[in-house]
Amino acid sequence: MSHETPDRALTTALAEAAAMAGHAPSVHNTQPWRWRVLPDALELHVVRERQLSAADPEGRLVTLSCGAALHHARVALAAEGWAFVVERISDPGDPELLARLTGLKRAEADPDAMHTVQCMQVRHTDRRPVSDEPVPTPAVDDITKAAAAEGARLQILNADQVMDLAAAASRAGSVEAEDPQLREELAYWTSRPGTGTGLPPEVLPEQAPQTTVPGRDFGRPGILPVGQGHDRTAVYGLLFGDEDERDSWLRAGEALSAAWLTATRLGVSMVPLSGVVEVEGTRQSLRQVLTGMGYPYLVLRMGLADPAHAGPPHTPRLPTEQVVDTSAVRSAGG
Ligand SMILES: Cc1cc2nc3c(=O)[nH]c(=O)nc-3n(C[C@H](O)[C@H](O)[C@H](O)COP(=O)(O)O)c2cc1C
Repeated sequence: MSHETPDRALTTALAEAAAMAGHAPSVHNTQPWRWRVLPDALELHVVRERQLSAADPEGRLVTLSCGAALHHARVALAAEGWAFVVERISDPGDPELLARLTGLKRAEADPDAMHTVQCMQVRHTDRRPVSDEPVPTPAVDDITKAAAAEGARLQILNADQVMDLAAAASRAGSVEAEDPQLREELAYWTSRPGTGTGLPPEVLPEQAPQTTVPGRDFGRPGILPVGQGHDRTAVYGLLFGDEDERDSWLRAGEALSAAWLTATRLGVSMVPLSGVVEVEGTRQSLRQVLTGMGYPYLVLRMGLADPAHAGPPHTPRLPTEQVVDTSAVRSAGG
């Protein structure tokens, strides 16, 4: 490790990229990440206290969420004109360390990344039914390609597979509603006003929207008006890959971010559905939907948002100081 005065432009860029990654989606808005800015690298650590111990004991969703944040930080750095190497880390001696961006060098600012950074600031989860207008096929293709470029696959489900998914999601909903620990965990993350984490009532539907595949029952009504729409035109995709372990979950999170930001750019609304992956039995049903092609990570609903109504407000975030640790560069700089 170098003891020289850190390059201010570099450490500022790293801190800003880490702050920008705060816009990333995370399960129940847990934001389970912590960034460490070093003189010559940026480290991503998972925060186990914000992992869902009841819904996600194996760490699939917490790692997916961190992967989404990693992709956000990568894009933010590329947009500012930095080239770097991504090390995805699995160190039993430091299990919280997930990734390191290193080997940073000045490069041309990437215009595509600059556009994607703008999408980070407008992307959000809109749980209302989608409009009656179908998602254009080229848009679905672009979203699928964006996921594939990050090493995960997005299988678009046909009508029969959507019915199988609907049955599995309904089963998962019943299992979760009957589990007191899961109910308690959900109640915790839906009643955290003023903390910058969790889901405020403004982003949760005031009543269950009419959908082919049931969305998550958050256990309490929100105040987001949902209207009478039925998302018949919604497209359902299953994000999956070859392995069911930490490195592939991290990459799947990066793929989720890439797919969702592409969707945002194309005006397509996306909602992840993770209940069906949280419950062991229904996760196995999804494996059958994939006919053995791989392991399911997350279900994604895509559609065009109803243009007649304003979408939900943005879900709050933790203050940057709580997620970005710059102490190593402050002390090294004197
Ligand atoms: C791994 C993962 C799983 C999620 N699962 C669900 C879900 O089952 N239902 C849902 O409505 N939203 C789900 N979300 C969306 C989050 O609740 C949302 O990203 C978070 O509250 C932040 O809000 P934003 O996306 O509007 O910025 C999930 C997000 C991620 C990253």
